[in-house]
Amino acid sequence: MILSNNKDMTPTLIDGKEVANRVREGLKAEIAELTAAGHTPGLAVVLVGEDPASQVYVGSKVKACAELGLYSQKWALPTETTQQELVELIHKLNADDRIHGILVQSPPPPHIDEEAVILNIDPRKDVDGFHPANVAKLVLEDEEGFVPCTPLGCMELLKAYGIETAGKHAVVVGRSMIVGKPMANLLVAKKANATVTIAHSRTKDLPGLCRTADIIVAAVGRPEMIKADFVKEGAVVLDVGINRIPDATRPRGYRIVGDVDFAAVKDRCSYITPVPGGVGPMTIAMLMANTVKACRQLTR
Ligand code: GUN
Repeated sequence: MILSNNKDMTPTLIDGKEVANRVREGLKAEIAELTAAGHTPGLAVVLVGEDPASQVYVGSKVKACAELGLYSQKWALPTETTQQELVELIHKLNADDRIHGILVQSPPPPHIDEEAVILNIDPRKDVDGFHPANVAKLVLEDEEGFVPCTPLGCMELLKAYGIETAGKHAVVVGRSMIVGKPMANLLVAKKANATVTIAHSRTKDLPGLCRTADIIVAAVGRPEMIKADFVKEGAVVLDVGINRIPDATRPRGYRIVGDVDFAAVKDRCSYITPVPGGVGPMTIAMLMANTVKACRQLTR
């Protein structure tokens, strides 16, 4: 049983950069094949407004496309962009044969209704997996659909490290449509066969519940919330959090921490993802994988 691998409780650090590189390498042959057939996979990344973290993420996504030889378009729209203007751009991208994946960076400014915008993305180009048609396909276990990149990356990490999910109790802390809910669906699906509990801010005795978990996925967006007393000895901990906290000793004035108190938790785990360098790099690798998949499905 995987969870007893680390008898001395020296945790295995899950290296997301390494697995992400392997995922990217694994895409190269298919990209070459599609490109040779005249179908270079293409991704359009749309950012509305000037949120600094979103600007960094969008920049990384476009850079990853260039590194893999994918075609990309970056649309950086001003904060005042209206919903109608954004929807018109999406309709143009839906009709553009060079574009196989469309992504609107979340969160948009408050005057934009994100759900309404997403409904306008052609589900076949919805590489984020946010369109209700793709949410349904995930629940139906229809593999033609698109699964949000971060939970997909978490599953890939579990696979890469040979971590068994069947029959295990997974507690997913967080119920967002981007991570918590799709993560729970992936873990409970027949491919993974975990028993899943979704916890959230109203969950009673969250530490006690988490202590019953063989696998904890922390996706709440609260810095270092998961403490040592949340974690059973030998548990696997995946930390999805990327939180900026003020730190005057750093040149930028902040540092990045996860949703897990890494220093306190690590010695109790069999496996744990660091932040940064754990789940984070997987998100972009899976976005590349989803864009290649969209291209394949749209051009076959
Ligand atoms: N914001 C944080 N994560 C994501 C993501 O995976 N996709 C998009 N579009 N926005 C995000």
